[in-house]
This record gives sequence, structure tokens and C-alpha cells, in this order.
Amino acid sequence: MSRGPIIAIDGPAGAGKSTVARHLAQRFGLLNLESGAMYRAFALKAILNDQDFDDSAALEHLARDTTIWLEPARTGNRVSLDGTDVTERIRDSDVTQGASRVSVHPAIRAWMVDLQRAMGSRGSLVMEGRDIGTVVFPDADVKVFLDASPEARSQRRYEQAAAATPAVAFDHEAVSRELRERDERDRNRPSSPLRPAADAIVIDSTAMSLDEVLSRIEELVRPLCAEAQVP
Ligand code: DC
Repeated sequence: MSRGPIIAIDGPAGAGKSTVARHLAQRFGLLNLESGAMYRAFALKAILNDQDFDDSAALEHLARDTTIWLEPARTGNRVSLDGTDVTERIRDSDVTQGASRVSVHPAIRAWMVDLQRAMGSRGSLVMEGRDIGTVVFPDADVKVFLDASPEARSQRRYEQAAAATPAVAFDHEAVSRELRERDERDRNRPSSPLRPAADAIVIDSTAMSLDEVLSRIEELVRPLCAEAQVP
């Protein structure tokens, strides 16, 4: 089998996976796929169809009638749901919590994993999520589990949200609570819970700068990829 290298970046919300994946993709000319955006798009579909996040059979039925596509762009992925661009909408809080809830259902996960494997089948990609190194690409060439303390992650999330929409006053405590709830669900679900693969490199970024995290991961990726010509 010949395919380009696969870099799996897993970890909890707010650990910095998306930023790291975006940088790696640019530096090494890799395809960047955000698996979480797919769960988010499906959660939005459930919301638009008034579907209960806990009703596994109804969600499975809905999935059969759903097309999700990721389009890598320089700033992250553009996300399409049934042909409509939902890139911005899927970052809203109702979708964020919904994504964590729809992702507990094994049938929904199996469908997503198939899609993710198909999108990444040619390799030369960095995919970030919760189960990329454990389930989606267990033979990935580099597996990183990027972690940080709950306090650091909620502070980063708060700063990101405040920077993205300065006109909205965010409640720090609400951001922390949402993150805790999501962590709890993502780590404790029976189907593919968030955990590091046995052969993952675990990086705790609590006291590290982005540059420090990046150079650590670049050391692992560089031997596998020629550096892209970044202007
Ligand atoms: O990475 P994110 O915040 O966009 O992910 C949203 C939710 O999707 C997350 O709370 C759990 C779920 N998810 C998952 O179960 N498996 C993945 N590979 C990616 C995300």
C-alpha cells in the first residue's frame, strides 16, 4: 500500500488541536481534516430537524439522508451540510453541546469513521479529533495526544470566543461549565471514549507556548514529510 503520512492529533476540547493541525498542514503541505466539524454538522442537522440528540434510531435514520463535506482552507475547514455552507453556524454553543451528544451513538460513529477514512485514504494528511489514533487511523504514522489542564483549556476557549465575537459578553463560568460537561461525556462514553492511543506521544501544553508545542510535534513529523514551500 502506498499512501502519504497520516498525522493523528487527539485530545480534549480547548487543548489547541485545531491550531496545531492548521500549522502542521501549512508547514508540511498536508491535507487538514477536522473530524469534530463533521459531528458538529450532524448535530446541526438534528437541530434543524427537531430531532432528539438521545434518540439513536431516529438519528441513524436521519444520517442516511445527510451529506457532510469538509473543504480544507487556509484558515481551517469549510464545512458543508447537504450542500449548504455551515462553517460559522456549527461553532455556536447549541451545536457544540449537540456534537458531543450525537457522538455517543455507535451507529453515528461508525458512519463518521467510514467517511473520515474515505476522505483520508490517500494519506498526506493531519486529522484531529478524539479517536483518530485509536479508531479511525490506528496505523497513523504519528499520534499525538494533546492535553492541558481544564483551567488552561477553558481560559483559551474563553479568549477565543471573546476574540471571535467582541460584541458578545461571554460568561467565563458558563464556558468552563460547558467544557466540563463535554469532557465528561467525551471521556466516559462507552463507544470510542477519548483516551490516548497506547503508542501516542502525550503532550501537556498547560505551561507551553504554541511555538513550543509546534516545534515538539514538528520534530516528529519532519522525518516523514518534506517541508512545504510556505511563502
Ligand atoms: O473537536 P470539536 O470540539 O469540534 O468536537 C465536537 C464534538 O464532537 C466533541 O465534543 C466530541 C465529538 N467528536 C468525537 O466524538 N470524535 C471526534 N473524532 C471528533 C469530535
